[in-house]
Amino acid sequence: MKILVTGGAGFIGSNFIRHLLGTRSGVEILNFDKLTYAGNPENLADQEGCPRYQFVRGDICDRAAIEKIFASNFDAVVHFAAETHVDRSIEDASPFLQSNIFGTHCLLEAARRHPRIRFVHISTDEVYGSAPAGVSFAEESPLDPRSPYAASKASAEHLVAAYANTYGVSTVILRCTNNFGPFQFPEKLIPLVIANAGEDKPIPVYGDGLQERDWLFVEDFCRAIALALENAKQGSFYNVSAGAPQPNLEIIRTILRQLGKSESLIEYVLDRPGHDRRYALQSSKIRRELGWTPEVTFDEGIRKTIAWYQANREWLAHARSGEYRNYYDRHYTNRSALLGK
Ligand code: NAD
Ligand code: TYD
Repeated sequence: MKILVTGGAGFIGSNFIRHLLGTRSGVEILNFDKLTYAGNPENLADQEGCPRYQFVRGDICDRAAIEKIFASNFDAVVHFAAETHVDRSIEDASPFLQSNIFGTHCLLEAARRHPRIRFVHISTDEVYGSAPAGVSFAEESPLDPRSPYAASKASAEHLVAAYANTYGVSTVILRCTNNFGPFQFPEKLIPLVIANAGEDKPIPVYGDGLQERDWLFVEDFCRAIALALENAKQGSFYNVSAGAPQPNLEIIRTILRQLGKSESLIEYVLDRPGHDRRYALQSSKIRRELGWTPEVTFDEGIRKTIAWYQANREWLAHARSGEYRNYYDRHYTNRSALLGK
């Protein structure tokens, strides 16, 4: 199976590529990534010698580059590439509209000209908006995106569903809750807490810190994506979640405790505008139809995640300093020649 992965230099994409190469011996992967600030080629440095893995730097909004890439006859596209940080979308929504909506449109245009390609679209629980206490959204719950990021992801999903309906593109949409684990860029809550606490820097808590997120260890999501890629019905949607929402403060206290750091590092700051109070999803459909179930508990996942960041201080230092942005020029310039750039 030949697979095009978009956004594979980011957090989940890089974990997914490593997962697939490690578990499916017949798979070949081309990772197509623009390397925005969130794309870190160091995430896949260990795969560089693998003959079944190739990296090409490029923008999913570049129609000509996408057409060229699709000419390689892929069996599937797994589409992660996106702007992903809610706070940045509040500062400036334009890159989110461009990459998340227009970029998805460009990929779909190419996909409809290659009818045998399976299109796995990676979406988020944020498209449903904030879940009232006691409620977990199911796949048929209405979409109610409430941040520019969430609105761009909901728009992308609508395009994917429209291309399935109109042109028969073989799509699968996965809506997942917040992921955590190795290689997550340290602007997101969990790696930010680990990194700041490690340096005895303040931990910014937005508002009262009682917002809830339903954290899933990234390897569990990667297994769900692989199952959907191989077995999901055309046009299907699946929620993916651990089903155990927790307040942010509880997550932060757990990490501080495990690091042996004082809660005095917690600093309450101004709340995020329009902050979604609670995300919660039912994932019975994927459990029933594809036999998926999360294998890593939050406690085990957070222990593994902390241990990974402690064992990979250089990765973290490069991510924090911006040094990772020089990696591509040092290692990959020959490969970009593939695109004539
Ligand atoms: P990330 O920000 O770590 O990585 C995004 C990757 O996309 C980066 O490598 C970046 O360079 C690349 N990219 C961005 N714009 C691009 C463009 N125009 N062309 C090519 N590449 C581009 O993101 P992540 O956390 O790994 O999330 C991956 C996907 O999963 C996203 O679609 C996100 O919406 C979705 N998702 C994430 C989470 C989460 O908790 N992180 C949860 C649910 C869904
Ligand atoms: P984040 O990791 O940005 O993911 P998302 O906004 O997509 O859920 O944030 C997770 C939660 O943590 C969210 O409720 C916002 C909160 N948060 C803080 O309180 N402080 C921070 O510094 C960050 C980055 C997030």
